[in-house]
Amino acid sequence: MSSPGDSNPDGPEALRALVRGLHHVAIAVSDLEAARGLYEGALGLTAGQVEFVPDQRVNVLVLRAGAQRIELVEPASEDSPITGFLARRGGGIHHLAWRVDDVDAALEHLRAAGVRLIDEASRPGAHGTRVAFLHPKATGGVLMELVEDPND
Ligand code: CO
Repeated sequence: MSSPGDSNPDGPEALRALVRGLHHVAIAVSDLEAARGLYEGALGLTAGQVEFVPDQRVNVLVLRAGAQRIELVEPASEDSPITGFLARRGGGIHHLAWRVDDVDAALEHLRAAGVRLIDEASRPGAHGTRVAFLHPKATGGVLMELVEDPND
């Protein structure tokens, strides 16, 4: 039995402290410049620069709507993880990303909690972030990313 005062570092209190909020929602697109028109034009979101993320072989465009952040993600090569997603499912919501203080500590916590991971260690994401993905089989089919963002 656990209690609210449980000092177990992997207990429920630690889990509540893990996630600081939603960092972004990522949308897979086959053509970033074509998709930009809807978001920046019709919807009026504010777009940043396109960034190539070599680790995942994708081009990322960050869009802001108030405090919320959307990332359009386009494959930059045939072996990008997004290429297969687009082939199987077409464009659409690809993953949601949780903001955490320390992505490696969060991974350690989730591993100890028995959550299946895609990434056993963090890797470089867009804009100087550190990121890691959880396995969608552990999260009801929702691909989830953890993001440690030094710009926060
Ligand atoms: Co992401």
